[in-house]
Amino acid sequence: MKAAVHHEYGPPEVVIALEDVAEPEAGDRDVLVRVHAAGANWADWSMTMGMPYIMRAGYGLRAPRKGIRGTDVAGVVTEVGAQVTALRPGDEVFGWGTATFAEYVSVPPDHLVTKPTATTFEHAAGIAMAGCVALQAMRDVAKLRAGQKVLVNGASGGIGSFAVQIAKALGAEVTGVCSTPNIELVRSLGADHVIDYTVDEFTEGDERYDVILDMADNRSLAERRRVVNRNGTLIPNSGVGGPWFGSVGRILGARAVSPFVSQKLRPFLSIAKREDLETLAELIEGGTVTPVVGATYPLADAGAAIAHAGSGHAQGKVVIVV
Ligand SMILES: NC(=O)c1ccc[n+]([C@@H]2O[C@H](COP(=O)([O-])OP(=O)(O)OC[C@H]3O[C@@H](n4cnc5c(N)ncnc54)[C@H](OP(=O)(O)O)[C@@H]3O)[C@@H](O)[C@H]2O)c1
Repeated sequence: MKAAVHHEYGPPEVVIALEDVAEPEAGDRDVLVRVHAAGANWADWSMTMGMPYIMRAGYGLRAPRKGIRGTDVAGVVTEVGAQVTALRPGDEVFGWGTATFAEYVSVPPDHLVTKPTATTFEHAAGIAMAGCVALQAMRDVAKLRAGQKVLVNGASGGIGSFAVQIAKALGAEVTGVCSTPNIELVRSLGADHVIDYTVDEFTEGDERYDVILDMADNRSLAERRRVVNRNGTLIPNSGVGGPWFGSVGRILGARAVSPFVSQKLRPFLSIAKREDLETLAELIEGGTVTPVVGATYPLADAGAAIAHAGSGHAQGKVVIVV
C-alpha cells in the first residue's frame, strides 16, 4: 500500500515522501480500515520535526522508530479481528488511530465509531482529536454550565472551531478570539461575541470569563488570570514552546500556581475515548456541531498538509484525502 513516510526528523515538506509499505494486519482485537481521509494535527508536525527534543526519548533518538504519522481517520472497515463484534466489514467509521496517513490502518475498535450519515469522510476525518480535546476541555475540565461566559482563544482553528460550538451546545455565552479573516467563520459557528486579536487584546478588556480555553498561550498567566472570574477556570492548551521542552515549563508553571489562587489553572492531556467519539458523532448527526475543514491535500502532499497543520494558523481542520 501507499503511505506518507519519513525516515528522519525535519520539516514535513522535506522529509515526508510517498512510499510502498506492507499493509498492516488486523490483530484478533483490531479492525482494518481502508482510509478515505485523515485529519492532520499539530502533534503530527511536532512528531515529524522531532520537537521538542525531549520527545525523541520516546519516539527515537536519532530517527523516528515509526515513520508514518497520523491519528485522525475516517474510512471503511475492510476486515475485523476474530474477537471483534462491534464492527463489520463495510461499516463507515471515524476515530483515533496510529499511522493513519496511509491507504490502510489497523485500529482498536474502541477507538472507532460509526460515521454520521450526513457527514463526508473529509469532514469526519478531522473530528477525533480536535473534537475530543474541545469536548473534554469544556465538559470535563471546565465543567461548563449553562449561562457561564466562555472565551475561546484560537476560535477558528481545529480545536477552537469545535470548542465554540460545544460551548454553545452546553448553553454558554461564547466569545471567540481570532484574526480578521476568520471573524465571519467564528460568528457562523455561533459565537455571541468575536474579538479580533489583531485589533483588540482580550486580556486588557473589562469582560470577565468563567472559562478560558487558550490555544495560543502567548500571554502571561497573570494577564490571563486578570480576566478569569474568581472561581473560574483557565485551560492553557498550546503545545508550542521551546526546542527542548516545548510547553512543559508553562504546564508546570500553571500547575504550581493553581493551588495558591482561587481560579483553577488546568492544562490537560486529551485521550481517545469511544464514548466521547460517540457524543461527538451524535452532536454532528443532530446538526448541533458541524466540523470545519479549511484545507484538503492528497496523500502525496501529506508533508505540506502537516506543515499547514503545524503553522498555528489553520482554519478549521487540515485533512489529507487518501
Ligand atoms: N490538550 C491536549 O491534549 C491537546 C491535544 C491536541 C492539541 N493540543 C494543542 O492545541 C493547540 C491548538 O491546536 P489546534 O489544532 O486547534 O491548532 P490550529 O488549528 O493551528 O489553531 C490555532 C489557532 O490559534 C489561533 N492563533 C494563532 N495565533 C494567535 C494569537 N496570537 N492570538 C489568538 N489566537 C491565535 C489561530 O488563529 P489565526 O489563524 O486567526 O491566527 C488558530 O485559530 C496546539 O498548540 C496543540 O499543541 C492540545
